[in-house]
Amino acid sequence: MRKKLVAGNWKMNKTADEGLALVSEVVNMVNAEVTAPVTVVLCPPALYLTTIKPYLTGSKLALGAQNCHEKAAGAYTGEISAPMLKSVGVEYVILGHSERRQYFGETNAQLAEKVNIALENGLTPIFCCGESQEMRENGDYVGFVKGQLTDSLFHLSAEQMANIVIAYEPIWAIGTGLTASSAQAQDMHYELRQHLAGKYGDGVAQNTSILYGGSANAQNAAELFSQPDVDGGLIGGASLKSRDFLTVVKAA
Ligand code: G3P
Repeated sequence: MRKKLVAGNWKMNKTADEGLALVSEVVNMVNAEVTAPVTVVLCPPALYLTTIKPYLTGSKLALGAQNCHEKAAGAYTGEISAPMLKSVGVEYVILGHSERRQYFGETNAQLAEKVNIALENGLTPIFCCGESQEMRENGDYVGFVKGQLTDSLFHLSAEQMANIVIAYEPIWAIGTGLTASSAQAQDMHYELRQHLAGKYGDGVAQNTSILYGGSANAQNAAELFSQPDVDGGLIGGASLKSRDFLTVVKAA
């Protein structure tokens, strides 16, 4: 049975005090109000991982990071490694977010290495994929997104693939308020699940959680998450407001 999962990607937001205040609110709300079997992950800026971890211990929430380097250690100023994340109790790591592909030039090949080192260190990758507006209007956007999985994930064994969470985030919906319709989300999630089935068989395909991301919020989450191949969300803006985030979690 694939798991329902909602992850809050704070991106580059919140000062230290604001972040701790948000975590406290979210932990209290989730512990008090969420009874359904949904996995809730908070992905704050890396600077806050160690201070936030104690707030999550004993709660229903897990800690996630927004990225990791593809090497275990070395002269990579400013970077953070998978072993470092593991050492402070991080369980999930977002990889291949479109903003990192766009602003930091992350490639499918580089992301394959990041997936490998995350798995080697016992982290669960939340692997992001998605097409641009231009690609959706003019290109084979389904083939493009499938290719992101092929290039970065399909070297994995079936056993390794069982530890991957996928997040479909149409770039044109991220931070724009232009949420994909539930039909658009379902269509792509179905295609990706079929792509997984073609490589790994129905067992892995049906047990892989595929999240939707891109202007998902308190108003549209229930509709999006009601789709048969949508297993939850990777939430940006709405994760920065505790009550909105809780509404999204409860919709999963
Ligand atoms: O990783 C989630 C993010 O890309 C979606 O952002 O603000 O559109 O929910 P937002």
